[in-house]
Amino acid sequence: MTLLMRGPPGTGKTLLAKAAATESGANFIAVRGPEILSKWVGESEKAIRQIFRRARQVAPAIIFFDEIDAIAPARGFRHDTSGVTDRIVNQLLTEMDGIEPLTNVVVIAATNRPDILDPALLRPGRFDRLIYVPPPDKKARLEILRIHTRKMPLADDVDLEKIAEMTEGYTGADLEAVAREAAMIALREAFKKHGKPQAVEVHMEHFLKALKAIQPSLTPEDVRRYERIARELKRMVL
Ligand SMILES: Nc1ncnc2c1ncn2[C@@H]1O[C@H](COP(=O)(O)OP(=O)(O)OP(=O)(O)O)[C@@H](O)[C@H]1O
Ligand SMILES: [Mg+2]
Repeated sequence: MTLLMRGPPGTGKTLLAKAAATESGANFIAVRGPEILSKWVGESEKAIRQIFRRARQVAPAIIFFDEIDAIAPARGFRHDTSGVTDRIVNQLLTEMDGIEPLTNVVVIAATNRPDILDPALLRPGRFDRLIYVPPPDKKARLEILRIHTRKMPLADDVDLEKIAEMTEGYTGADLEAVAREAAMIALREAFKKHGKPQAVEVHMEHFLKALKAIQPSLTPEDVRRYERIARELKRMVL
């Protein structure tokens, strides 16, 4: 079973893969694309082979290629002229197409740049499933806000639903930053007032200030662009 997750930065792809690993109890082999390149200069395809060998040994296992675009960029986006990328992609495909079957090994890859990924990886049958991880809608934003404020002393006037409504274009990572910033602002204000650290409640006004300080990382245009890429990829694969 192989699946590719794509979607804008900060939407929870890495989080999802880790959660899947924890929930399943499988052995988790996480590989960050950029790391392979730096650690295995010139022999990254060997690294790929070893990763799959190890996964077969410790199966049931999940191999997670995070930021896979770094090791398998499309031709126009490559920095090497030595053919390393070609060899890596070929090795990946060989392992995934499985002359040696991938018994009890799940491959999950993630990218926020599906548009620069080697198209060979996107051809039908390459990944069993393509999953689009969209920017959070209002309901998802509310849930994310709830998660990241769970341990915060919230004042009664804090209206998370209102904040969720106001945060179109904010990713999960942005919302986490907003919650953290609101808490910081509350602490700072209390410190200024009392001259020493205080336990404080976080009020709605602190969130509103935090929203001014932390801008959404996605413009409406970004969101549309990601949706368009997602549609195109779907068409290529289905
Ligand atoms: N659905 C979510 N629920 C709760 N928190 C979230 C969610 N999505 C994102 N976050 C917050 O955003 C942070 C970044 O998420 P994550 O690293 O998984 O994003 P990503 O999609 O892998 O981004 P990138 O493409 O930049 O690698 C998480 O640590 C988490 O705090
Ligand atoms: Mg990530």
